[in-house]
Amino acid sequence: MPHPYVLLSAAVSLDGFLDDTGPERLLLSGPADFDRVDEVRASSDAILVGAGTLRSDNPRLLVNSARRRAARVADGRPEYPLKVTVSGSGDLDPAARFWHTGGEKIVYTTDQGAARATDALRGLDDGLGVDIVSTGPELDWRVLLEHLHDVRGVRRLMVEGGGRVHTQLMREGLADELQLAVAPLFVGEPDAPRLFGPGAYPPGRMRLMETRAVGDVVLIRYVPTAPGVGRLAASADRHWLTLACELAALCPPSETAFSVGAVVVAADGTELARGYSREGGDSVVHAEEAALAKIDPADPRLGSATVYSSLEPCARRASRPAPCARLILDAGVRRVVTAWREPDTFVAGADGHGLLVAEGADVVVLPEYEERAKEPNRHLV
Ligand SMILES: NC(=O)c1ccc[n+]([C@@H]2O[C@H](COP(=O)([O-])OP(=O)(O)OC[C@H]3O[C@@H](n4cnc5c(N)ncnc54)[C@H](OP(=O)(O)O)[C@@H]3O)[C@@H](O)[C@H]2O)c1
Repeated sequence: MPHPYVLLSAAVSLDGFLDDTGPERLLLSGPADFDRVDEVRASSDAILVGAGTLRSDNPRLLVNSARRRAARVADGRPEYPLKVTVSGSGDLDPAARFWHTGGEKIVYTTDQGAARATDALRGLDDGLGVDIVSTGPELDWRVLLEHLHDVRGVRRLMVEGGGRVHTQLMREGLADELQLAVAPLFVGEPDAPRLFGPGAYPPGRMRLMETRAVGDVVLIRYVPTAPGVGRLAASADRHWLTLACELAALCPPSETAFSVGAVVVAADGTELARGYSREGGDSVVHAEEAALAKIDPADPRLGSATVYSSLEPCARRASRPAPCARLILDAGVRRVVTAWREPDTFVAGADGHGLLVAEGADVVVLPEYEERAKEPNRHLV
């Protein structure tokens, strides 16, 4: 199911802390960076913080600039982004500023927490209803993101902490981007909250998108690269599938074959190869075939790699003996992410998906990318 674009935003000290242990919130950013954060808020459909941050910082989470709010309204968007919090306990203070400022609010909680949150917030009467949504017996981040996307129309979600929330979204592969403002000071208290806690994170290195001085802090923007595991899609899967769709646009045009792009990515997010249909003057080569041909068949990373293909790998073809689903399986790859199931245009009942699954591969279809995958093939479908 589609998710919003999830942007994690935090300011940290040089020693990696989000705050100190004092009663007041530690101001890590300077005025220029607070203004940058205001701009990011204004560009978001919703802003999320954990209940821990509501308790410790009592934030308003507003767009402070009147000019930015006016621009939102002129674009047909609400003046303020939707405010979102998560709480397992439902133990929420109705006097918190979060409830009494800005636009609409929503609480994601558990079945148990919902009853307590409903009780706690019963007295609120500011004309702006608070929606309380249970994701089930436990807080389920995927359910939360799907609900925000499908029910509340959120396409861009800014997450402003705290550490427990950031840690889970990063660990579960659900963050599309990390925006980190590094402030030139130390906290040095072992019990202060850290941005990321210990545990198992997606492997490998993230991709650096930008560094920028903002006053005396440095903004660093990273995006994740490590593919998801099994049939669960991670944010990085969406980035790689976007690249596969972009590669499809490079294909020499054809009236008799689809234009497809493919990327092969190791489990740690290293790109192993990419390819596209009819690449390099070979009039019949398929995208997955072109990409796999660039990798040493003995490369030990193939066994845990993912193939991204804008179109489902073929199960039958006239041009060469081995269809792409077979080439993928023979290469040892056991995970495929694709945008579009093959239509009957050239081969009736093509089912590369079925062939892959029958031989133990995990196939993830992200239909929200189908239109992009079809784009260079409009004349065929
Ligand atoms: N420097 C910065 O950019 C920045 C930004 C934000 C916050 N902060 C700092 O971060 C600190 C707060 O961080 P934090 O980690 O303590 O709190 P947090 O991440 O803001 O919120 C944690 C709370 O969210 C709920 N929650 C999160 N995941 C859950 C799950 N899977 N199941 C059930 N409930 C879940 C729980 O609420 P319940 O307890 O209600 O169950 C949990 O206690 C503060 O010191 C704050 O100043 C710094």
